Amino acid sequence: MKTKIDLNVHTHHRAGTEERPGSCGIVIFGASGDLAHRKLYPALFDLYYAGHLPENFFVIGFARSVWDDQAFRKQVLETLKEIGKPDPAKQKKFVSHLYYRVADLDDTASFHHLADALKELHQKYKTQGNVMYHLAIPPEACGNVVAQLNRAHLINPPKKGGPWTRIIFEKPFGHDLESARALNHDIHQYLKEEQIYRIDHYLGKETVQNILMFRFANSIFEPIWNRRYIDNIQIMAHETLGVEQRAAYYDHAGVIKDMFQNHILQLLTLCTMEPPIKFNAEQYRDEKTKIFHALRPIPRGKVNDYVVRGQYGPGKLEGKKAIGYRQEKGVAPRSQTDTFVAMKLFIDNWRWQGVPFYLRSGKRMNAHGTEILIQFKQIPHSMFSSVPPDTFASNILCFRIQPDEGISLRIESKQPGPEFSLASLNFNFEYKNVFHTHLMGPYERLLLDCMHGDQTLFIREDQVELSWAFIDKILEGWQKSHAPKFPNYAAGSWGPEAANKLIEQDGRKWRSYVANYSAPTDEHGKKL
Ligand code: BG6
Repeated sequence: MKTKIDLNVHTHHRAGTEERPGSCGIVIFGASGDLAHRKLYPALFDLYYAGHLPENFFVIGFARSVWDDQAFRKQVLETLKEIGKPDPAKQKKFVSHLYYRVADLDDTASFHHLADALKELHQKYKTQGNVMYHLAIPPEACGNVVAQLNRAHLINPPKKGGPWTRIIFEKPFGHDLESARALNHDIHQYLKEEQIYRIDHYLGKETVQNILMFRFANSIFEPIWNRRYIDNIQIMAHETLGVEQRAAYYDHAGVIKDMFQNHILQLLTLCTMEPPIKFNAEQYRDEKTKIFHALRPIPRGKVNDYVVRGQYGPGKLEGKKAIGYRQEKGVAPRSQTDTFVAMKLFIDNWRWQGVPFYLRSGKRMNAHGTEILIQFKQIPHSMFSSVPPDTFASNILCFRIQPDEGISLRIESKQPGPEFSLASLNFNFEYKNVFHTHLMGPYERLLLDCMHGDQTLFIREDQVELSWAFIDKILEGWQKSHAPKFPNYAAGSWGPEAANKLIEQDGRKWRSYVANYSAPTDEHGKKL
């Protein structure tokens, strides 16, 4: 039976976001790359299709491939077709706004050509000099690009009513604390923080934004959202995907930099931050930053007590044989890169003192799913003499971020019948059954927010540095400690057995709606 829920919709518009954004040009660096094709063009088309893009806009693709406008449009059309976007006529209209210029990022002349194109197109489209640059390029290239833009007079200083320049920086923002700081320093020579949009696409997901609404638009959870009532919080992001074509990047990053430094720590802040006074970019981000300040650093010498790392070997996934990480194209044959990490951490503040947070993420896992579980404490006393309190299932609130988006709450209930028997049941809310609408994709949302000049869902300078500082300590600990023998889990399993021990030694268990961790396997997929 479908859940019947009364929808009583109140709309809260953040400043300036109620209408289409003002006219602007969009320049995509790395326009021939994978990210642009997989995420940016589909998102821009979806925005166009839904009528969210400005009345007047144009897009310039800027990349090394030697294409012209026509070739670029053809490529984008092919991408849209491949992923099954609707309405070919509208697609054609959309690509008529697209232009292309060949880029050599080290050559100032390229930026002068870009300046000429921008001038011409601003006139043609009446976009008033407003421009959003999206840097879908590696972090090492970003500092130089911003300096080049400045040299070619392509950055407008922020001025009320004047033409605006905003720059989106893709993740990773740096590859450690030092490089992130250096990049912040370099770009701040030419840009004010209010022009800088560091992306973390998880923040653009509907289900992730809903964590805050759930916590702060309802009065019933906030009083119990603390160490007195919550036993532990688990955040899990399991992927069935491997490294695909991205080994050149991934083999230097691993899951710790690829998922934890950004997405997972961001999810943690949303679950644990204090309510901001106002939902605006600065106050909201101030509260998130406080959590980063309160993260207890993982002691270098004890890193293995808090963090378990893994790498997948050959295995079986979805009924098919799957190769190991070291056999993937572009991966070093003796790579020591982590494709799985589980960790335990603490937040040293009044609200969370003593509550363990268990986080885990891995590639090539048995099933795909991102979830957050809030496990409440067990009842303190059982009034049923025959049932000891620790046999009651504790209440668990689960945010299913993806797939099967929704929220569920497990409660204990009387099993109908003459006896006092208990049954655990789940209140379950599913987006698809309640909101019969397309969930806006994260890139759509974030590109639109940038065009509106809303930084709320972007990462501020202090956060990016604090999260790197936390991760760097773990990496230093790894360098000094004994590395596990990789591979240590099979593709298609639930990760190394040590990840279970990490939580079981605290008398707890991983809980998951997607996964059943009861059958860990060794690196050959054999049940342990
Ligand atoms: C990216 C990582 O940031 O997030 C990828 O680089 C990962 O390795 C991806 O697969 C996961 O995103 P999502 O939205 O599919 O959960």
